Amino acid sequence: MEKVDFDTTVDRYGTYSTQWDYVKDRFGEANLLPFTISDMDFKAPQGVTDVLIRAAKKGVFGYTRWNNSEFKGAIVNWFKRRYQVNVDADAIVYSPSVIFSLAKLLEQYSQPGQKVLTFSPCYDAFINTVSANNRLLLQFDVDDGVDWAALHRTFAQEHPAVFLLCNPHNPLGIAWTDQDMQKLVALCNAYHVAIISDEIHMDVVRKGTKVHSLAAYFDQLTVQKAVITSASKAFNIPALGVSYALIPDVLDREQFLYSLKKKNALSSVPYLGMLATIECYDHQEDWLNQLSAYIDGNYAYMQKFLEDELNLKYQIPAATYLGWIDISPLGIDMRDLQHEMVTKQKVAIMDGSVYGNGGHNYLRFNLGAPRSKIEDGLNRLAKAVHALQNK
Ligand SMILES: Cc1ncc(COP(=O)(O)O)c(C=O)c1O
Repeated sequence: MEKVDFDTTVDRYGTYSTQWDYVKDRFGEANLLPFTISDMDFKAPQGVTDVLIRAAKKGVFGYTRWNNSEFKGAIVNWFKRRYQVNVDADAIVYSPSVIFSLAKLLEQYSQPGQKVLTFSPCYDAFINTVSANNRLLLQFDVDDGVDWAALHRTFAQEHPAVFLLCNPHNPLGIAWTDQDMQKLVALCNAYHVAIISDEIHMDVVRKGTKVHSLAAYFDQLTVQKAVITSASKAFNIPALGVSYALIPDVLDREQFLYSLKKKNALSSVPYLGMLATIECYDHQEDWLNQLSAYIDGNYAYMQKFLEDELNLKYQIPAATYLGWIDISPLGIDMRDLQHEMVTKQKVAIMDGSVYGNGGHNYLRFNLGAPRSKIEDGLNRLAKAVHALQNK
């Protein structure tokens, strides 16, 4: 396949973009250069656009079935080819979004008031969704790695109903190893804790990283379980509204489908999103590999920049396109830094405290963008830091 151009800047203004057009909602000011929520500034693969244009030209947008062999086959083949995991096609169910699946599975696998255990810092929607569904989120801090003995004690003492895994982990970028997964499976089995694995970040990883989907461990799990994921993160198509879950147990799956179709009247899939998902999985793996290599380059650039300009040691994570930068060695206050970045440098970089425990004094910097934007953003960050250090 020919080389994909990830360098050219795409103007995202005027697309109702949450990141660009609505940056003021999060940062209080408009027209900031955003490195915020996790979507990318790249165009989707050309093949996806072509498929969408063909469908748009045909002009047929009636109610559409997701339960077909092309959609489910694309997912089965993707897991087989990329992750060497055999997924049972019957386990696949469509869902409008990964976090919708999470909300529905929390209803199924736990009762109001029960505890949901997750590794922190964590994706902010975990915090919101768990609490909005009247469950109690227990955050187990893994900023400095997992203390397995302490985790064991937490399982034993806190009696969580659900363990919610982010695999790979947003924001830390950890790709859980086979050993990690074995330990989590054993803990969930031993303490009768259901497990939900959010694998939306599984596809963008550093060269050599291996991701271990929970689907590979389904047979070993004696508790309720599910993988929730989507092609939307890696191929940059979240606005197309298609995700899916893998729910191997037939009764759990029927309950999920009852909730989806009967309680929430979501039988019909967004047609364009389904076509795009099939195209991504069937034909865009090379695009994804080129994207991952480009993101590797962004990380290397950022690592060198932080070391050279700010004297910060930064370790490149195994997965995701999110940088997690510890600012504590800089000796400046996060509120001052945010104020300087937003008001003077006109740059929006997420404050790590959004991601719960362990996020204090970190920045989460979205690296899913052309190199020139990464350079610009890091320069603005450095200027803000220097201005505060020279005060
Ligand atoms: C870990 C994780 N899960 C889920 C999502 C969102 O998925 P969806 O839009 O399909 O709910 C994100 C987006 O940032 C994410 O980082």
